[in-house]
Amino acid sequence: MKKLLALLLATVMTMSLLTACGSSETAAEAGNEETQAEVGNEEADAEAGNEEAQADAEANVEEAAEAAALSDGVLTVGTNAEFPPFEYVDDNGEPDGFDIALIKAIGEKLGVEVEVENMEFASLVSSIGSKIDVAIAGMTVTEERQQSVDFSDAYYEAVQYVILPADSEIATAQDLEGKTIGVQLGTTGDFIATDDIADTTVNQYNKGVDAVNDLINGRVDCVIIDKNPALVFASKFEGQLIALDGAQFDFGTEEYAIALPKGDTALTEQINAALEEIKADGTFDELVKTYIEAE
Ligand code: ARG
Repeated sequence: MKKLLALLLATVMTMSLLTACGSSETAAEAGNEETQAEVGNEEADAEAGNEEAQADAEANVEEAAEAAALSDGVLTVGTNAEFPPFEYVDDNGEPDGFDIALIKAIGEKLGVEVEVENMEFASLVSSIGSKIDVAIAGMTVTEERQQSVDFSDAYYEAVQYVILPADSEIATAQDLEGKTIGVQLGTTGDFIATDDIADTTVNQYNKGVDAVNDLINGRVDCVIIDKNPALVFASKFEGQLIALDGAQFDFGTEEYAIALPKGDTALTEQINAALEEIKADGTFDELVKTYIEAE
């Protein structure tokens, strides 16, 4: 990985000196086997040698340098392993789940080792680019988050669910007004409960499971959390809790994506390319079967 990147950098730099090299794809290809073939193919473009091509080449060098986030051979990934089946701590105390398996598969495609850092969900976005390279945490793409990070292509569609005591009378959006609602701090469930429903009291927890425990204890009227974790949590209290589809409460759909350092187009393209491969070769569907449909 390191060697290949160095080779690519050297090649791109040489070509830029010759006022050569066209395609902006060059840097994006950094790290995959096609790179050398691609660079070879650039010879035709090299002959054009206009100023635009030179500017492109310079941009390519910059991008290649940025992709060097991977050049130490390690992708440091932040998560919040409190969100089954996407991420949880397994019996050996290690983070596991759909997202963890997905990012490891991506790491494999990119030829880097994946190191997972378990942290609070609300700290993930601000840690990208410093403590962690990227974050995977069932994280919904939102405009607000896009102010500070970029997102990969979406990999999963989600919706908020409402967990209720089995005998609750809450059934519509209106019924939620004025209620005490438990959420995980800084999540889209939190934003809905806080911003979109009138007169709520919102109890914010660091872990979704703590909100669910307070629902069992009668301290909140309901919990708003993403569909799959809602189903997992409610099933742990079968007979006592039910989980209702947010569509019933007019909640819109959401999309999960990997959060990435803002402006690092080389890294974004590499991760998207790996994701695409994982979808095309059947790995993705297998992970869905193993982690999500098995629940
Ligand atoms: N999808 C929601 C959001 O982006 C909740 C994600 C919570 N993830 C977690 N690993 N705790 O806000």
